[in-house]
Order: sequence, then C-alpha cells, then structure tokens
Amino acid sequence: MVDSIVNASAVLEVSALSLPDQQRHGETVFPYVIRCESADATRADVERWVAMQSRKLLELAAMHGAVVFRDFALSTAEDFDAFVTALGIPNFPYKKSLSNAVRVNRTERVFSANEAPPEVTIFFHHEMAQTPIYPAKILFFCEIASEEGGATPICRSDVLYERLKEACPQFVENCETKGLQYTNVMPGDDDPKSGMGRSWRSTLEVTTREAAEDRLRELSYSWEWLPDGCLRATTPPLPAVMEVGPGRKTFFNQLIAAFRGWKDSRNDPSEAIRHGDGSKLDADAVQQAVRLAEELAFDVKWQPGDAVLIDNTIVMHARRTFRGTRKVVASLADVRSQSFSVR
Ligand code: FE2
Repeated sequence: MVDSIVNASAVLEVSALSLPDQQRHGETVFPYVIRCESADATRADVERWVAMQSRKLLELAAMHGAVVFRDFALSTAEDFDAFVTALGIPNFPYKKSLSNAVRVNRTERVFSANEAPPEVTIFFHHEMAQTPIYPAKILFFCEIASEEGGATPICRSDVLYERLKEACPQFVENCETKGLQYTNVMPGDDDPKSGMGRSWRSTLEVTTREAAEDRLRELSYSWEWLPDGCLRATTPPLPAVMEVGPGRKTFFNQLIAAFRGWKDSRNDPSEAIRHGDGSKLDADAVQQAVRLAEELAFDVKWQPGDAVLIDNTIVMHARRTFRGTRKVVASLADVRSQSFSVR
C-alpha cells in the first residue's frame, strides 16, 4: 500500500517497515510504519511529500490507528511543526484545551508532551476524552530519546472495547448507557511536579474566581472551591464509548488514567471517576480494562527524529517512566466536541 502512496509523488522514496512486536488486527497492522529511504531528503521535500499525501496518511491513521514515520529528516520542534502543518489539519492550541497536564509551548503548534517528572507513569488515555472538547488527532515527535525507558505505549481501543465486552459485558453496557463523569482538583497555580498539576487559571483561561465560575457554567461542570484555593470540578456526563464507523466502537474515555493515575497531593483516584448517573464503577471490571490495555500495548521505542500520527478516536497512548533526558513533543489537531445523555 505504501508504494502506491508515495512513489506516485516521486518526491521521496519510502517503504513500509516491519517492527518487532508489530501487531496485526484483522486487515490492519499496528502501528503502520513508513520509513523514508531518500538519504538526501530535505525538510522542504518532506513537507511537499506530506502535503501531497496528507489525505492518504490520515486514512492510514484512521484504519490502522497510528502511523510511525522514521528517518524523515526531522530534527527540531520547528521541523515537526512544519511536518504537522503540511498535513493540513486545523491546529488545536494546547491553551484552548481543558486538559489537566502542564505543558510548555515550543512553537505555534508544538508543545512538550507532559512536564511530569521521569518517574511518573502516564497511564493509557484518549487525549482529552474527559472533557467536552478533544482533538481527533495527536502527533508526537522525538527530539531526544532517553537513555533508558521512556517509550510511548499505544493501544488499539477498538480491540480493547471488543475484548472488554467479552470479559465484562455488564460493565460495558453500563459504560454505554450511563457514560462517565470525571472529578479533578486543580491548584491555583501550575504544579509541574504532578502529571495533572495544571492550575484552574490556566485550564479555564481566567484570572478570577468569578470568571472561572462563568466558564464552568458554560461547560455544564459542577464545582466546589476548597479552603486552600484549589478548585474541585466535575464534568457533565460524557460518553465512555465512541462509534467510529459501521460496527466499530472504541473505548473512548479517560477511565484507565483517571482510575490509576489521577493521584497527587490534591487528588484521590477513587473519587476521580463515576458513571454519569453518579454510581460507582465496578472496580474488578476496571482492573480488567487496565490488564487488557496493557496486554494490547505496543511500545513506540523512540529514535530521534521519529514522528507518530495517532487517530485519537481509535488509539490510546501513555508514557513509560525513563532515565536521562527525554524530549518528546506533541501537537494536537482537528477539534471535536462531545456530549452525552444518561439513558
Ligand atoms: Fe496524552
């Protein structure tokens, strides 16, 4: 398939690459990997190639879930910005997001993936599935690979949905009919030591409590101010499952990350997530989801210059712990919104 994609353009020579542990699900491989074979490719060549192939690359991402690009003459955040821009998908600026992670912008479209320290694991999630707006695409790029660890595990959420439904049908039924709601305690100022330390001021793009309340009202959140200046906010019910195509559903939510990882000095994971009707989750079924996602994980073991295009509606991502310097940056694109009525 890759030959028909690229060599039609003759800008670059590319090939489909097999990686150890690469998965096969039905007709698809996971992830799909493309290597640039043109040793003298320039950034301009790459931009031209991406722009010409963008529709097909997005189709590959939708079908396979993720596309890894290796040896594409990218070395800086600026190169990656140009790569993402060439895809022609609208930017989703991080500051517009309601994510709880602290991040730092490097270029217009590119920001640090997560400022949480190396020993912090980021658990599987669909980017911003816990908020009413989310990006349909997420892209990562490796500037510096860590000496040890630091892979980005990815997981096919459609396969996870099918497996979980087999193992815990009642739980999946509850997820589909009741949805999920998320509670998060935000500090007044950014706390970069936590994987979820983004302040309410930054998250809601406000400076005062009154403006924060207006924004929360607009988003249909409920909230409570805590004595230390923190804000406890609860989302409206949101979907737990997404239909991404005929007969193809994904476990599109933040359940695993919220249940395992929303833990810091302010947050207690057992309070972080409920069904949309306020009922508690079946803890055994959640553990089963955690186990299955880990079984289905494919670790993207970064090489400097690697880029990955992920269809966020189909694939979850996470971050392994690491040692040494690791610079992986991210970009979000294609904003969508979601809402849910408890059935
Ligand atoms: Fe993420």
